[in-house]
Amino acid sequence: MKNVLKIAIQKSGRLSEVSLQLLQECGISFSQNKNRLISSAYNFPLEILFLRDDDIPVSVADGVADIGIVGENVVEEKEKSIVITERLGFARCRLALAVPQSMNFNSLTDLSGKRIATSYPKILQRYLKSNDIQADIHEISGSVEIAPGIGLADAICDLVESGSTLLANGLREVEVVMRSEALLIQHPELSAEKEVILDKLMFRIKSVNRARKSKYILMNAPQSAVAKITAILPGMKSPTVTPLAEPGWVSIHTVVQEDDFWEKIDMLREAGAQGILVVPIEKMML
Ligand code: PRP
Ligand code: ZN
Repeated sequence: MKNVLKIAIQKSGRLSEVSLQLLQECGISFSQNKNRLISSAYNFPLEILFLRDDDIPVSVADGVADIGIVGENVVEEKEKSIVITERLGFARCRLALAVPQSMNFNSLTDLSGKRIATSYPKILQRYLKSNDIQADIHEISGSVEIAPGIGLADAICDLVESGSTLLANGLREVEVVMRSEALLIQHPELSAEKEVILDKLMFRIKSVNRARKSKYILMNAPQSAVAKITAILPGMKSPTVTPLAEPGWVSIHTVVQEDDFWEKIDMLREAGAQGILVVPIEKMML
């Protein structure tokens, strides 16, 4: 049989769309049937398994899937033997304690002896222990946010990304238990053939992620300002400087990181740059 790499991604939830989008940006196309459980890519040796996020670490540990995209929070809770291949840098969120809007909350000790509903009992237990708090942890596997409303718990410990789930359920975030982001994980021992496919996929993922964090910028400047401007711009090598039709003027092109983007723009303007254009980059192969 032809060798394919099997990737597990979340069937529905916070990570499903972003995971699909990442594969698409890597140029991998596959059938997008809503009720699919499994799908084969047309143009890359990849099979996509759509699972509940909670089942992804165990599937990868057992070899049902070779790799998976899943939240760090789930990996930490499940304690399965997998290897983290790459921190993907998207779907950043936090596992947080939240209480009903009406509840008086001043500090963690207010949760002593209270019932806390969560799908993350191990992480929560460790956190409470390290803060010397005794509380009653109720493990529930989904819809944690409705637990206080139906009288099942006094507080919850759940994932928060935009905060809209908490808001919709009359809850207020009070403490951050852990920060999390999407991870690419892999089975500890992949065959040599699968490693080759994974290397190819990783090359694409890294190119896409690098490009997401970078912008291509172009600007005009007087020749006399070039030294000052080049000092502000590190770029991949050094910036490209080409003469304009107007004597004494040049066009400067380079790549900048999203993080310090606006500061760079201010500095460039002060140094004499004009007509600054900022363009997204689709892929960045280094
Ligand atoms: C989490 C969490 C909330 C939601 C919070 O679910 O349980 O439902 O995301 O996001 P928000 O702050 O942007 O509203 P997730 O999709 O991670 O997985 P789950 O359904 O398995 O809990
Ligand atoms: Zn889940």
